[in-house]
Amino acid sequence: MRAGRRRSGLIGWALLAIVFALVAAACAGSPDPGGQAPQSVFDPAGPVARKQDALWELVFPIAVGVFVLVQGGLIFMVVKYRAKGDETVPPKQLHGNTRLEVLWTMIPALILATIAVPTVRTIFEIAGPPDDPLEVRVIAKQYWFEFQYLGPEGQDVVTATELHVPTGQEVYLRMESLSAVVPDTEPEVGPKLGPVADGVIHSFWVPRLAGKVDIIPGHVRELKFQADEPGRYPGQCAEFCGLSHANMRFDVVAHAPEDYQGWLDAQSEPSAYPPSEEAAARGAEIWEAQSCQACHTLTGHPANVDTRIAPNLTHLASRATFAGGIFETNEENLKAWIRNPPAVKPGAQMPPFDADLSDEELDDLVTYLLTLE
Ligand code: CUA
Repeated sequence: MRAGRRRSGLIGWALLAIVFALVAAACAGSPDPGGQAPQSVFDPAGPVARKQDALWELVFPIAVGVFVLVQGGLIFMVVKYRAKGDETVPPKQLHGNTRLEVLWTMIPALILATIAVPTVRTIFEIAGPPDDPLEVRVIAKQYWFEFQYLGPEGQDVVTATELHVPTGQEVYLRMESLSAVVPDTEPEVGPKLGPVADGVIHSFWVPRLAGKVDIIPGHVRELKFQADEPGRYPGQCAEFCGLSHANMRFDVVAHAPEDYQGWLDAQSEPSAYPPSEEAAARGAEIWEAQSCQACHTLTGHPANVDTRIAPNLTHLASRATFAGGIFETNEENLKAWIRNPPAVKPGAQMPPFDADLSDEELDDLVTYLLTLE
């Protein structure tokens, strides 16, 4: 009887150790850029993320110390004072030890006060007004992010799924959640804010650049960050928002400042029209015949009506990925997407076109889309 209980106790401890080892293994990851953990918060790539990481480095060891002391004390007490044999007499009851009560109130209060000072300071530092920032408007939709920049001549430059920024400059995001923007409701001048406010809560998170910020319908949320080095920093929606929440990704693409200017100038241009290649020219006609312009903006195309329901495709082929960052921009993926978007991305709002397009028409349309660099 005794031996059996001891054995099952040992098995319990062994199982606990295995579970703990597995949980700890989930923390593994190489912190090198582009390595196994491109979304590691422990590898900050800019001043805002670094401040947040520094705060964590201070708070975490304190939390571990408290955890070990409290849990250690608990286990010690449980083992040392467990019921032995067939005791029926209850243990001696102790109440009202003033010295102990003062101690266990003071110690946590002091620890919290110690943590509060750097925490509040960091919050104020990263929430402070940005210094000569690049301002970008971010619109979270189902299930992708739109980014709006001011072009060199004051025109709108709109991308989806890729947020391009210069290095060494603060970026200031004004973020909103809207499922659609209706052009008729847009004011003639000033920021275009005439949306259908029926979005859901999304959350913008680029782990190596800044902490996550929830984007709540009806509010403008703000976030500031800065990237030190050129590169691609993967981000994702971090708040459950529906079927394709897990497919709502994006990249922050940081350029050296002069490269950023070149990128912005190129994106400010309308697409080339008509396309020189014959198949692409046929594709441009199919675009119009299928009323793609009813949802997608494509400046340069004569049928463009500047709708901003679906992603702006003016420079689609310049983006590495599409559909919320989950597909590489190539012929095969674009075809699968146009045939049946909800089949490859659950909850996608674009309707299937497999019944409307022959294989040749789909070829031509995709050929056209891939000329949009
Ligand atoms: Cu958007 Cu989750």
